[in-house]
Amino acid sequence: MPKYRIALMPGDGIGKDVMEAAQIVLDKIALDAEYIPADIGWEFWCTEGEPLPERTVETLKSCDCALFAAITSKPKEEAEAELAPELQGQGLTYRSPIVRMRQLFDLYTNLRPCKAFKGNPLNFRDDIDLVVFRENTQGLYAGVEFHPLPEQVRSALESHSPRMAAFEGISSEDVAVSCRIFTREGCQRIVRAAFEYAASHGYPTVTLVEKPNVIRETSGLMVREARKVGQEFPAIELWETNVDAMAMWLVKNPQDYGVLVSSNMFGDIISDLAAQLVGGLGFASSGNIGDAFAVFEPTHGSAPKYAGQYKANPTAMLLAVKLMLDWLGETDLAQALERGIAAVIAETTFHTYDLGGENTTLEVAQAVADRL
Ligand code: NAI
Ligand code: MG
Repeated sequence: MPKYRIALMPGDGIGKDVMEAAQIVLDKIALDAEYIPADIGWEFWCTEGEPLPERTVETLKSCDCALFAAITSKPKEEAEAELAPELQGQGLTYRSPIVRMRQLFDLYTNLRPCKAFKGNPLNFRDDIDLVVFRENTQGLYAGVEFHPLPEQVRSALESHSPRMAAFEGISSEDVAVSCRIFTREGCQRIVRAAFEYAASHGYPTVTLVEKPNVIRETSGLMVREARKVGQEFPAIELWETNVDAMAMWLVKNPQDYGVLVSSNMFGDIISDLAAQLVGGLGFASSGNIGDAFAVFEPTHGSAPKYAGQYKANPTAMLLAVKLMLDWLGETDLAQALERGIAAVIAETTFHTYDLGGENTTLEVAQAVADRL
């Protein structure tokens, strides 16, 4: 029996193209694994009313980890309009399958390394090496949202917060509320993951990115817990920065930072900023990591206008494979793959369209495979 069972979820659009690229590299490294294809994405929302079918959840439960490429998602009205006729009018609501996977498997860490590879013409600077730890299950993505605001929720808020007076007289139809929910444990475990990574990978600092001067209760909790966790790692300095200032510092002096840690929404935003500093979506990979399961993916979406054209840069997907190998403890293979990716970037002969070239997704993947 193979050592690992790994689910492969190509999803929609260029997700299918870059997953093929990943398979070229996986074949070459000959990891002792069985690969199980699994359905996810828009196609399954339209035909089954569920973008993460139960059979996929079962497959994931039987696997060690998963590779996911990208899916399409659309706003509420469009989603409902595209449902198969027999599924319309049943009150089905679209939920992001990625957010659901993160919550179902408690994948609380979103790991997003952003490293400038030598020779990448899209680098903002060549000395950037950032690793963002984004809390992945709570915060503004908890999904506790109201519109219109139900009377009971409204009166509970009014009786507990004098600040609600600012909204007096406004119809509940005209008020929308999204709750930012943090737990002490949620804060502790993401901060601890960041510190552990800094310690094991030789980063001298961890920068906490929040906004405790304004969002006093949630960001405040995160800061207090971070300081406690930080005491367990005396060799690593904890820096605290407000998220707005961080956006500025990341453009001004990105080379000064190493590991960054933040809550779900702020982490999402700064990790896209960090990704663009090292070449953008074609180079940004991520891991959704829990204590027992993990899903690795490029951070880009399905880029529908390039679907099936094999134009997408596969580097982000290949770096996601590298993160998976690291997580599995296949450190030698992970390093070999990163060297292969770095070599192809440094040679500058294989460029997809985003780098101004005409190579296809699969040609670039083959070039990486040839250098392993
Ligand atoms: P996107 O990431 O799909 O594409 C934005 C643009 O970035 C593309 O038009 C393309 O120019 C470029 N790009 C993306 N990946 C690239 C690659 N590998 N190589 C070269 N260029 C690349 O984001 P967009 O257009 O906002 O969303 C398209 C769909 O993807 C939407 O339905 C959205 O909801 C979904 N999405 C899914 C994500 C996921 O599966 N994790 C993440 C982000 C968006
Ligand atoms: Mg994002």
